[in-house]
Parts: sequence; C-alpha cells; structure tokens
Amino acid sequence: MKTKENKNIKSFSRTLKFVSSYVVVAMIMISVNGQSINNKKNKTMEVLKNKISDLVFYELPYSYDALEPHFDKMTMEIHYSKHHKAYYDNLMAAMKDSPKAGVSLLELMQNISQYPVGVRNNGGGYFNHHLFWNILSGSPQKAPQGKLKDAIEKDFGSFEAFKEEFENAAKTRFGSGWAWLSLGKDGKLFVSSTPNQDNPFMDVAEKQGYPIMGIDVWEHAYYLKFQNRRPEYVGTYWNVVDWKKVEELYEIALNFK
Ligand SMILES: [Fe+2]
Repeated sequence: MKTKENKNIKSFSRTLKFVSSYVVVAMIMISVNGQSINNKKNKTMEVLKNKISDLVFYELPYSYDALEPHFDKMTMEIHYSKHHKAYYDNLMAAMKDSPKAGVSLLELMQNISQYPVGVRNNGGGYFNHHLFWNILSGSPQKAPQGKLKDAIEKDFGSFEAFKEEFENAAKTRFGSGWAWLSLGKDGKLFVSSTPNQDNPFMDVAEKQGYPIMGIDVWEHAYYLKFQNRRPEYVGTYWNVVDWKKVEELYEIALNFK
C-alpha cells in the first residue's frame, strides 16, 4: 500500500514539475514578448526622456538601400551619416559644459526659446531626423487603420483630404524645413510646417503639439535624386511611410502627459 502511495506521490510530483516548467517558460515568453513590444512601441519617443548628456547617435533602423527605389541609397547614406551625425555632434558639443546638459531632450525643445540658435538648430535637427528614420520602412503599412484612421477622417474629412493638406504644407514651406502631422492639446490632429529644424514640440512653433509624422523638405533630403522637384519627392514619400509606426506614435501621443 505504502509503495503504491509513494508511486502516486512521485508521479504527482513529476507532473507538477512538468507543468511548472511549462508555466515558467510561458511566463518568460510573455515577459520577453511584452518587453519587445514595449521597446518597439517606445523606441522612437523614448529619446525625449533622455538627458541631453545621455543622448546617443542611434543606428539607422534599416540599411541605406532599404527604401529603394523610392529614396535612393546615396541620399540616405549622406543624410544619415553626415547631416544627422553633424546635428548630433554639434548638439553634444554645444551642451557639453552647459549647466542644462541634465535636462531632457523634451524639456530642451519645450523651452528652446531660452537657448542659443545653435542649440535650437542642432537639437531640433537631432530629434526631427530620429523621428523621420523611425516612421519610414521598405515594407510599410500603406494607410492608417483603427483609431488613427478614424481620427484622421474625423479631423480632416478623409485620408485623401489629409494627404492633400500635408503635401501642400510640405510643398509650400519656403526654403528649408519640415511638414508635420501632430496631435494638439485639444485632442485633434493637425498639419503644420516649421522652418529650419524647428518642430511642434518647440515653444517657438506657431502651432504646438505632439508630432507623430513628418517629412524633411531640406534639399539635402532629396536633391541627389529629385533635384529641384520637391513635389515629386513629397509624392514619393507616401511609398515609404509606415502607418503602423505612425499609429504607435499616435497611441503614445494620446497617453502623453
Ligand atoms: Fe535632413
């Protein structure tokens, strides 16, 4: 009798161990998966919380030729490794010995009127390009879905009407600058454009909000392939915007305090 009981206990113990190991593996998988989702979701905007002194020159999230044939390899390489790198290096050099090196990138931009123009240009240049790289993809989701799709239709009338307004902002920005899709404090999406390396986070921007999508209309972004044909470059942009990523940024913007 005792032997049978012992056998049952041993068998139960083995089953328990077996089930436990599955539970542990499942928990690890959920945790790893959750972490990767969080990283993916927050990767772009996490940079906002970083102290200026802790900012890094992030890797491009794809190869230089990943956006071919729409955005060419040489432009991408020069744009990222020369222009973007220069904004990063110049920002770091300008802030290295500053008592404000401990402020976050977001705080810096929200109070940019208090800083020298070099910090404004290079701080904006660093963030704007970081956002730009992270919403582009060689295999993008071609249109918004779900909550963002609904919001665009509510605030602009239709996706096509939004695209037209955005393209106009990009085409008519005189000289160098950016066009943006942002979430305003009133909860509505809006299109705007900013000169040079300004952006809607900045206290100097005419229309302030949380940018979730943008296009660089500096000539360095398109001149090698499109020369002076900015409208053609702006039209091509729609082939590489990944609306999945813009949707993620919209979700972050909605929860931004
Ligand atoms: Fe640029």
